[in-house]
Order: sequence, then structure tokens, then C-alpha cells
Amino acid sequence: MSRLLLVSNRLPVTVKVEKDSVAVARSAGGLATGLRRPHERSGGLWIGWPGDVSRLSDAQRTRVEAQLAEQRCVPLHLTSSEVNRYYEGYSNRVLWPLCHYMLDRIPRQDRDWEVYRKVNERFADLVAKQYQPGDIIWVHDYQLMLVPGMLRQRLPEARIGYFHHIPFPSSEVFRTLPRRDELLKGLLGADLVGFHTVSYVRHFSGSLLRQLGLDTDVDCITWEGRQVRVGAFPMGIDADAFDALAREVGVLEDVASVRRGAEGQRLLLGIDRLDYTKGIPRRLLAVQRLLEREPSWRGRLRFVQVAVPSRTQVEAYATYREQVNELVGRINGQYGTVQNVPVHYLFRSFNEKQLAGLYRAADVMLVTPVRDGMNLVAKEFCAARPDDDGVLVLSEFAGAADEMRGALVVNTYDIEATADAIEQALKMSETERRERMRGLRAQVKAHDVHWWVSHFLGRLQGLPTVSVNRAKE
Ligand code: F6P
Repeated sequence: MSRLLLVSNRLPVTVKVEKDSVAVARSAGGLATGLRRPHERSGGLWIGWPGDVSRLSDAQRTRVEAQLAEQRCVPLHLTSSEVNRYYEGYSNRVLWPLCHYMLDRIPRQDRDWEVYRKVNERFADLVAKQYQPGDIIWVHDYQLMLVPGMLRQRLPEARIGYFHHIPFPSSEVFRTLPRRDELLKGLLGADLVGFHTVSYVRHFSGSLLRQLGLDTDVDCITWEGRQVRVGAFPMGIDADAFDALAREVGVLEDVASVRRGAEGQRLLLGIDRLDYTKGIPRRLLAVQRLLEREPSWRGRLRFVQVAVPSRTQVEAYATYREQVNELVGRINGQYGTVQNVPVHYLFRSFNEKQLAGLYRAADVMLVTPVRDGMNLVAKEFCAARPDDDGVLVLSEFAGAADEMRGALVVNTYDIEATADAIEQALKMSETERRERMRGLRAQVKAHDVHWWVSHFLGRLQGLPTVSVNRAKE
């Protein structure tokens, strides 16, 4: 059995320093959550950033390192300037908005590229140091797009996979990036490059053709004497774990207490990192529109929106937070009563058990990003509904919409249509709800995260090991 080396910007655990105490807590986000259990099962290593440890004493640092080692996590420490320029800077001020089609958000100055490149070098060095012949290296996401190419130089024979967790935009958008060629070449260092959907694969192939003149033959590109495969591997979640959690007595008690607080009301739910790609303002406007045009819903709807703090040092996220706060206040001011407000806005993290309680209590789940690589919340909601009830309203701009046929799929840019979909969900008959939910659950269970991992790694391991040049010798 080959050993698996997972490589991602963030480790599945993040060091949190609060006053004098230090905690090693679970990281938020789809990648860290999704790969946690496959990592536990694989027995391999996970290489990534454990968060800011600069304020730890030597003794605390030793303890943290021991805890990480216990979980087979190999930390790559970033300086505060690297956090600022590689993570918040190039990754989250440039690549993140670019891949989500938000070119206006990208700063005019390309000042952080060099630090992005250097941190990618540091990752490649650390992976090469940990590597043993026969290992499989699986690099994840846009923060590390140069790493596959850098690893190929250091370890020409290594088996390297790369997975892109966010959308890969149309070549018309990707070509605006001054460093487009370097990034594409970086990805081509992998043997297998994976995306969530067939469209992202097409967009990537389109960029290769336009920028580098490379033709994709079915799923194969020839680059520097090697063959690079590309494919769609839609990521799943640990569906059985969510299903089991949603049946726990403690969770059912939470469900009952949520429902007790909302007697006579229908519960709408949104759960997102507070990110401008998630479409929270448009979702709020759609709820507001429904209350405006259908007075009979006033006082009968409770919209619980959980917003998990994220990337708080990036200005765009702070501005977005203010925008959401303002909208929530406006809607509650307009439609609230002394007894009740329509929007319950919770700006904090929730653990899986609390999330499962909310999922199970909801009548309608609103997953309406303006752009999203996949969106695993949509899948968690279905997995957490062993009662086969609840309706999913899902944006057509989330990768998940390609698979989740039982959802009510909406164009989130159309506020009126989103309000229509919410109303349709609220009025849907029990028979239709159950039929749709059964289909969704079957899909989420059949294509869970373990299926995803074995599908991707099976493909990677099954590729021929001989490079094109060697084959000709
Ligand atoms: O794929 C997007 C991603 O990088 C995932 O790891 C995760 O869903 C989220 O963004 C977390 O972001 P961050 O690590 O910047 O908090």
C-alpha cells in the first residue's frame, strides 16, 4: 500500500491562541472537513499551515508540535508577512475572486506574486523532504497551484495529483491574470488534475489551448514529455457520519428546542462561511421580497442564517460583513414585531452536532451562492435528513447543482425567481418533498467523500508510470 501525502494550505486543525490558553481546534471549510476522515483512514501524512503560532512560548510550541505529530500533521509555519501576502494577498485577493468571476475585486497591483511563488517553493521543499519512494502526493487547491510543477522538478518519478476545490473560470476570465502561464504550467507538473465538474475541466482545457497552445486529447495532455490527465471528480461528504449524527438523541433534543422557539413558523436555513461568493445579500433580498409581496408569510417565517467568520483580515470580507449586517437590520426593522423578527443572524462557528440539529430542524435549506466550486453544505443538509423531509433550494452557480437533481435549482441573480423558489419549497406537498429528498440522499450517499477519494486516487494510481520520453527509448 502506498503512503498518501496530503498537501494543502490549511491543516485539518488550526492552532488558536486565546489569552494564555492554546487550543488545537478543527479547521473550518470544505477541504479541511471533507478530507479529515480519509486522512484518518489512510495512515499517511498531511502537510500544511497550522495557523499562527508566533505568540506561543517554547513549551506551548512543543506541546502543539506533539499534538500535530500525533495526528500525522506536518506543519509548515508561515511568517506574518507570508500570511499577509501569500494567503490573504495572492491567494485570497487575486486567485479567489478571479476563479469566482469577480474581476473587479482584484487589486490593480500584482505585488504579492513573488511571495506566493516563494511559499509554494517552501511547500514543495517540505513535501520533497517527507517523500519516500512509492508515496502518492495529493496537492489541494488554488493556494498551491505552482507546487505540482515544483515537485516534478524535485521528484521527477513521483506520482502527483492535484485537485482544484473552487471553480476554474472560463479562459476569457483566466486570461486576464498576468501570471496565467506560470500557474497553468505549475498544474501541469501533476499526473492527474481534478476538478468538481465537467465545465471546470473544459475551462481548464480551454485555457491550456489558448495560453499554451496545448490540445487536450479526450482527457490527456502531453507536456514536457509526460502525459497529464484531467478529469471531473465531484467531491462528496462523509454522508454516513452526518446521517448517524442527525439521529443522535442530543441532536434530536436540539431540533426540538429550535422548533419550540419557532412554533407556528416555517424555518428557512442558510449556513455559509461569511464570503462574498455565498450570495447572502441576494438571499436576504429574496426573503424580503417574499415578505413584501406575500403578507400572509409575515410572522410565519423564520430565516436562520449562520455566517462563519472567515478571512477577516481581507478588507472585502469586512465590507461584506457590514453589508450583511445592514441588510439584516433593515429587514428585521421592516418586518419584525415586538414578539418576533424574520431573520436570525448568527455570526459564529458551529460544531458538526449543532449543524446537524439545524439541518434537521429546517423546512427549507437555502444554498444560493453567486458562484461556488461545489458547496458541501447542500450535501450535508441531505445527509442529515434521515426523516426524508426538507427542501433544498440550490443555486445553479454551485458545482453541486450538476448532481443534485432533486433540488429546486435557481438563478440567484434573479431575486424574484429565488423568492418564487422559496415559496414553492414552502408550499411543496409532503409526497413531493419526500420523493425529492430520497433521491438526493441516495445520490449523496452513493458519491460520498470516501468514494471521491478512491475514485481520484484509483485513477491516479492506475496511470502508466512510464513517461513519454522513456517509452520511446
Ligand atoms: O476550496 C475553498 C477553500 O480553500 C476550502 O479549503 C475551504 O472551503 C475554504 O476555502 C476555507 O478557506 P480558508 O482556508 O481560507 O479559511
